[in-house]
Amino acid sequence: MPDDLIAAAREVRAHAYAPYSGYKVGAAICDENGAIWAGTNMENVSYGATICAERAAVLAMISAGARSIQALTVVTEDGGAPCGICLQVLREFTDDPARLKIFLVDGKGLIGEMTLADLLPRGFASAEVPRTESPSQ
Ligand code: THU
Repeated sequence: MPDDLIAAAREVRAHAYAPYSGYKVGAAICDENGAIWAGTNMENVSYGATICAERAAVLAMISAGARSIQALTVVTEDGGAPCGICLQVLREFTDDPARLKIFLVDGKGLIGEMTLADLLPRGFASAEVPRTESPSQ
């Protein structure tokens, strides 16, 4: 890592469904157990139904029962960063945004390393809303 994450994100990016924008995104997450979960973007003719690669990867992790994101790698042609909605979704699954590493990769390789706290310094934290279940459920 991040080599494993980069490889996983590159691999899944090849399956992007982006016929409208042509902008292909691959995302790979490392969870609290070291497992890697990947997702790609899926567009829709009703544009608002599009799902970003980062959220697809988070959903794969959640679907497998993991709950904590340690690191994220995003691969695009130009090294684009996660959008605001995806940053907020990432915030849900870390206790410490300063420890969630984000690696940005373009067509040539790694171009940036940062944390979720860098990109989302004052994200809305779920602790501010009363829970009816523990985070592990
Ligand atoms: N996209 C992502 O997959 N992740 C982001 O964080 C930003 C945007 C996708 C959505 C759409 O398919 C394409 O990139 C252009 O916006």
